[in-house]
Amino acid sequence: MIRIAPSILSADFGRLADETRAIVAAGADYVHVDVMDGCFVPNLTIGPPVVAALRKSTKAPLDVHLMMVDPDRYLDAFVAAGADILTVHAEACTHLHRTISAITKLGALPCVALNPATPLTVLDYVLEDLAMVLVMSVNPGFGGQSFIPAAVPKIAALRSEIQRRSLATEIEVDGGINPDNAGDVARAGATVLVAGNAIFGAEGGYAAAIAELRTRAESLTV
Ligand code: DX5
Ligand code: ZN
Repeated sequence: MIRIAPSILSADFGRLADETRAIVAAGADYVHVDVMDGCFVPNLTIGPPVVAALRKSTKAPLDVHLMMVDPDRYLDAFVAAGADILTVHAEACTHLHRTISAITKLGALPCVALNPATPLTVLDYVLEDLAMVLVMSVNPGFGGQSFIPAAVPKIAALRSEIQRRSLATEIEVDGGINPDNAGDVARAGATVLVAGNAIFGAEGGYAAAIAELRTRAESLTV
């Protein structure tokens, strides 16, 4: 089953609650929230108070992507604010196993993100502990970037490792996803597709954009 997670980074920040309600009404499965600290990535976005405000505007799962150094300092704040899925970057965690355990203890679903140049082997000893792995298909920091094709074989290799270990781990892909590559990433094994520009920038409206991504992804996996 394919899930579509619109990234509100591309939404109108002046109308975030309305935008969030609109994408959920349009068929979004998750609301993808990009948290950037101006240090791990050059951009600076939002923190726990905004996540708490989003929580009030929807019951849909909040998929919170922490692009920040040393995220351990803020895990409890984001879970208290209403994060359902909490994603940390492997490159930003000195003690990744400890961070994953902390997320699980707080009651959120733990996910680890890998930058395009980061090998899958960093997950060798923690894969069993994860609900989801986020394969970045752009260098994190900005919406509207071009998809990096090397993400496709990376997703395929991760999917085969997950199958080899008989796990139920979801694979999320994030960055430059559009109707032209949705089928490729889904066929490789991605089950959650993040999309910012392809949804919020779509001329035909959010519902049509989400439906098209889902159709393209699902039609090539059968
Ligand atoms: C990139 C973010 C992504 C991004 C997706 O740093 O993590 O979630 O906003 O936006 P598009 O789909 O426009 O690349
Ligand atoms: Zn993201």
